[in-house]
Parts: sequence; C-alpha cells; structure tokens
Amino acid sequence: MAKLMTVTANTAIDLLLEVESFAFGETLSASRSAEFACGKGINVAKAIESQGSEVLCLGFAGARSVDAFHALQTERLTTDLTVVSGKTRTNITLHDSASGRETHIRTAGFSVTEDDCRRLCESVESHAEPGAIVIISGSLPPGAPNDFYRSLIKVCRERGVTTFLDASDSGLSLGIEAKPDAIKPNQQELEALLGKSLPDERSIAEAAKELVGQGIQRVYVSRGEHGCIAAYENMAVSAYLNTAPERIVSRVGCGDALVAGLAVAARQGLDAKTALRLGVACGSANLFSPEPGRFEPTRVNEIISRIVVEDILTSV
Ligand SMILES: Nc1ncnc2c1ncn2[C@@H]1O[C@H](COP(=O)(O)OP(=O)(O)OP(=O)(O)O)[C@@H](O)[C@H]1O
Ligand SMILES: [Mg+2]
Repeated sequence: MAKLMTVTANTAIDLLLEVESFAFGETLSASRSAEFACGKGINVAKAIESQGSEVLCLGFAGARSVDAFHALQTERLTTDLTVVSGKTRTNITLHDSASGRETHIRTAGFSVTEDDCRRLCESVESHAEPGAIVIISGSLPPGAPNDFYRSLIKVCRERGVTTFLDASDSGLSLGIEAKPDAIKPNQQELEALLGKSLPDERSIAEAAKELVGQGIQRVYVSRGEHGCIAAYENMAVSAYLNTAPERIVSRVGCGDALVAGLAVAARQGLDAKTALRLGVACGSANLFSPEPGRFEPTRVNEIISRIVVEDILTSV
C-alpha cells in the first residue's frame, strides 16, 4: 500500500495547564497538566495512527526539543525529523476551572536557515517514492521562504508523489501555484485566499470549483460544525454530522483529523463520497478527545453512520 508521510515545518509543544481558580500574583498548583509534541502535520500523523495506519513524520524539530518528538514513535508512527538549532516553540493553554475560561500564551521557537530548508527538502526527496502520499500542513517557521511549500510540492510531483496541502496565507497562496493534488482550507482561509466573503454553501462550492478548474483535483473546504464541502472535476458535495455532538472536549485539530481521514481513504482507493464521509467522521471524532489527532477508532465507526453526504451544484 502507498506510503503516507506528513511534513510539519513549524512543529510545536502544547502545554495544557488546568488550575481551580486563577489569580494573578499567587502560586497556584495545577489540578491537571499535559504536554503534547504536536504541530499540524504531527496531528495529522497521530490521526492516521489512530485509524490503525502507518505514517512517517518529516519536518523541523528544535535540537533541544527533538526527544519529545522521538517519544511519539510507535510501530505505526515513525519520525525522520530535520533537527535545527534551538527549541521548538511552546503553546501554553491555561484553563481556569472556576470560570471555564482559557488563556493562550505562545512562545517563539527556532528560526530556520536556507541550509535547514535545503536539508528538509532533501529529506522529503529521499522518502518520495512513486505512489506515496505526502501531506504538508501548517504554518512556515521564521526564516523559511514564503514559497517553501511550492518547492516541496514541485519536488514531490516530479517523483510521482500525491500531494495534499493544508496551509494558510502565503503557504497556501504560493503553494497552490505548484498544483497540489488536494487542498483543505477552512472557510476563513479560503475567503482570505480569494479576498472575498463566501456567505453560503453555493458561493463556497463555486469558489472551490474554480480552484479545481485551475488544476487542483480535489478542494475540501472545512466549515466546523457545518462539515465540509468538497469540489472535484465533475461534482461538488457537502458532508456533515446530522446531529450536534454530545459533549465537545476540544475543537483543536479537527481539520487535521479530517485531512488524515481523507489521506487514509486515498491510500485505500475509496471513491470520492466514501472518502469524504470517512474524513468528516474523523474530523468529528477528534472533538471527543483532548489531544489533537488522537481518537478511538470505534468512535469513527459510531459517527460514520451519522454523516450525511449531499450533492450540491448539480447544475454547474
Ligand atoms: N462542532 C462540530 N460539530 C461537528 N463536526 C465538527 C465540528 N467542528 C469540527 N467538525 C468536523 O471537523 C472538520 C474540520 O473542522 P474545522 O473546519 O474546524 O477545521 P480547521 O478550522 O482546519 O481546524 P484545525 O486547523 O484546528 O485543525 C469539519 O469539516 C467537521 O467535519
Ligand atoms: Mg486547519
């Protein structure tokens, strides 16, 4: 079966701290704390592993933080990260149980050099075998050229690798110039890309179709609770969960889980609608667990029958 790989240029460490009642100037004990090695492509890899598939993680990791990423390795999830000097950035989430409010503190991490970028590109190239699927996810770290994803996609395409891009800003706008096989902006990212608001299903589907017309075979636009609109050469489809989820634990990484479901489906050669159903089920399954990308496969099986898939834009 095709090899699945993810590329995370801007890895992160997520530190979650829960306190009973936050107060400035006090010494507080955390009632709960957890630390996750993550970043968009790492989350995608965890969500691929959650589905029982094998995946290889590529990307940058700070020399002082690389052990946390090595610790993710299992029989199914392997890593071959490009180590750069410094530390991977930390994202702190402080949860106050009394008020239910969350405060986010972001710290800066490594910057990459031209040589670092060349090494990551070579690493991707060395793993790029024909028929493989690579998912390039997330933001670019400081120091990386804005067109870095365009270069990576070009290298992959030349080697017969299927490319899936989930990025925003210049990572997305310049990345699509290399015609990745699939992209997954959320609605806001698509609006920012096109510089216009997309107020309804029809306008989103038409915008997605336009990108298909420019040579991107599959365009998935995720819309949180409204599910996902997918456009292909010959159709546009909408898929969503038919009832609101019972209890949401965390919304972070739903897009990554959606991408992981689509990638596993592509690897299995599932048809477009079945693939979208699996992707949306994985996106929703991610709502029920605290760690982005980690969910129970049984949860996906429960949810999948609750996913509605509808044709849209049949007249276009
Ligand atoms: N509240 C929700 N109820 C049901 N399904 C949801 C909900 N939130 C997310 N999903 C599912 O997850 C998918 C991806 O979510 P979303 O559109 O929030 O991605 P995103 O903005 O890229 O998220 P992230 O970048 O944090 O991973 C949706 O298409 C949907 O299938
Ligand atoms: Mg996203």
